[in-house]
Amino acid sequence: MRFTVAIDGPAAAGKGTIGHAVAEKFGFAHLDTGLLYRAVGARVLRGERAIEAALALTPDDLATPDVLRTPEVAQAASKVAVIPEVRDALLEFQRAFAHRIGGAVLDGRDIGTVICPRAEVKLYVTASAEVRAKRRMDEFAERGQEADFETVLADVRARDARDADRATAPMMAADDALTLDTSEMTAEAAIAEAIAAVQAKRGA
Ligand code: CDP
Repeated sequence: MRFTVAIDGPAAAGKGTIGHAVAEKFGFAHLDTGLLYRAVGARVLRGERAIEAALALTPDDLATPDVLRTPEVAQAASKVAVIPEVRDALLEFQRAFAHRIGGAVLDGRDIGTVICPRAEVKLYVTASAEVRAKRRMDEFAERGQEADFETVLADVRARDARDADRATAPMMAADDALTLDTSEMTAEAAIAEAIAAVQAKRGA
């Protein structure tokens, strides 16, 4: 059985939390596509050229995700993400993942629009920039990483602008996506809505 759930939305909106929960509930595989761009960004911070870095990615690049989840790497990721050749280099891997037998959840910025335009379920998860920055602060605290609210908020805003304004595969809701504004929603409530959307399509 093939079944794809596409989750898009701005930085730190909770796409990963929802994606993980949906994948667990239905036994689907989950891919956080932002990690691919973060891995390319991390290589660029180490002195590589972006397109070469994207072509050279291996599973080892994703083996230590916490190292990739810093604001510095996030900024580098959104800078390499504007380069069409970088996006092209990562496209086939994402499409193959989406079509795997057993079902898949992918979260990112262009999943419902470019990577999987025929996904069975499309969600666009968003929240105010302040709420998202606060959630990202909580994640840093859980991992024992230090962060300052104003810096995190500035990172979120700068990436939102870069991701939404780029010419290739800009961040946007697909026409047929269900938008979840989670600014005043608990994670549990958002997860319940996402699960209901999948059940409605699967005839559960
Ligand atoms: O976790 P967070 O929402 O903060 O970001 P992420 O999903 O890890 O993505 C990091 C950066 O990668 C984003 O700011 C985008 O520039 C880029 N990205 C993208 O262009 N397309 C995707 N499908 C996923 C991420």
